[in-house]
Amino acid sequence: MEKTFLMVKPDGVQRNLIGEIVNRFERKGFQLVGAKLMQISNELASEHYGEHKERPFFGELVDFITSGPVFAMVWEGENVIKTAREMMGKTNPAEAAPGTIRGDFGVTVGKNVIHGSDSPESAEREINLFFDQKELVSYTKQD
Ligand code: CMP
Repeated sequence: MEKTFLMVKPDGVQRNLIGEIVNRFERKGFQLVGAKLMQISNELASEHYGEHKERPFFGELVDFITSGPVFAMVWEGENVIKTAREMMGKTNPAEAAPGTIRGDFGVTVGKNVIHGSDSPESAEREINLFFDQKELVSYTKQD
């Protein structure tokens, strides 16, 4: 079954949005298979955002994501990577549709509440970067 990496960013944690965000993915029908509240190091932030290294906002990005705790999660389900991105809305909250997480709760492109993997390759890379295999569970939902 497909897995994706989702992370409530420091602004989302500070604004008490963890429960709201977890609730949305639970109600949708996806399954939480790993989660932890953690403080990201500069090294992990630089690796996670490696593809943005040359961008003018890279320093800002690393400073922000390391500024406070994040809530890192692994979710499982059919087409979870693409569907979670749709539920998150566009990267810039100003362009994100109402009803999406960023559309409902975000204001600026830097502080956009949540991160989610954008492809199967980045999902695998990001899950392995943030979680040990033994931190993930596998279970069947009871009816
Ligand atoms: P995320 O999905 O975490 O992946 C890269 C992040 O870069 C993105 O969300 C935005 O929060 C951030 N980002 C994109 N463009 C800008 C920008 N112009 N200034 C600051 N941050 C940005």
